[in-house]
Amino acid sequence: MRRLLVLVLSALLVSSTGVAAADEQVVGGERASIEANPWVVHLLDDRGTQFCGGTLVAPQKVLTAAHCATGRAARDVQVVAGREDKQDRQAGVVAAVTDIWIHRQYVSADQGEDVAVLTLRKSLSYPPLPFAEPTDQALYEPGTELRALGWGRTSENGRTSRYLMQATVPVLPDDYCLDTYPHFLKEDMFCAGYDAGKVDTCQGDSGGPVVAGGKLVGVTSWGEGCARRGKPGVYVRISRYAKDLHPVVDASPPAVVEP
Ligand code: ARG
Repeated sequence: MRRLLVLVLSALLVSSTGVAAADEQVVGGERASIEANPWVVHLLDDRGTQFCGGTLVAPQKVLTAAHCATGRAARDVQVVAGREDKQDRQAGVVAAVTDIWIHRQYVSADQGEDVAVLTLRKSLSYPPLPFAEPTDQALYEPGTELRALGWGRTSENGRTSRYLMQATVPVLPDDYCLDTYPHFLKEDMFCAGYDAGKVDTCQGDSGGPVVAGGKLVGVTSWGEGCARRGKPGVYVRISRYAKDLHPVVDASPPAVVEP
């Protein structure tokens, strides 16, 4: 009888913690709607698997992380816009990529310049999101609340999310990021999160948007594990790359030459 009680109790415990874990999105996130964030996109590889995020910054241009684009041929990447549920094939549009621009100084995510721009075969009708300019430094003040979006993992070793998720994280002081990550580059990056961890971006979110003040301020780049105590997420400081991005993003698409 005692044994049975213990069994029943432990079964209850296991199932209740199971429920709690499923509820509490590990990146401390919650669902986000595509209608409220119409410029957020996800990238599919040649097998149709989502591997990164991105942001529509012009009708035919998607900003993502260089580490999402490197080593891939344009024909092996597709951009999915207007689709909150990755499994909803009817929703939104899938656009082919015709060109991949990667920052010429890019080596690896933790060495900076983790930015790339994908050119789409067709113009999309979703509203693009403007990116931060050098005059937007106020958005990078420690404590500024940023919203990160993506379909990445909802726990460090978990699976990527079927639905678009968002998490709010404050910008941390550069000194904090430097203490945690000695090779952190404060000119090229910023870090955001809580000392206690729990809320963070994770694998699969890379390349995706981090927004504040109606602008794209960051791109998800790297971090040690996900949502770990004292290990915040590191993001591309987009304002720093505005100068490099403008010629690529604002370039008018090649004119169709008629014979
Ligand atoms: N590099 C990862 C990706 O490719 C993003 C990692 C973000 N990590 C973090 N702890 N915030 O999706």
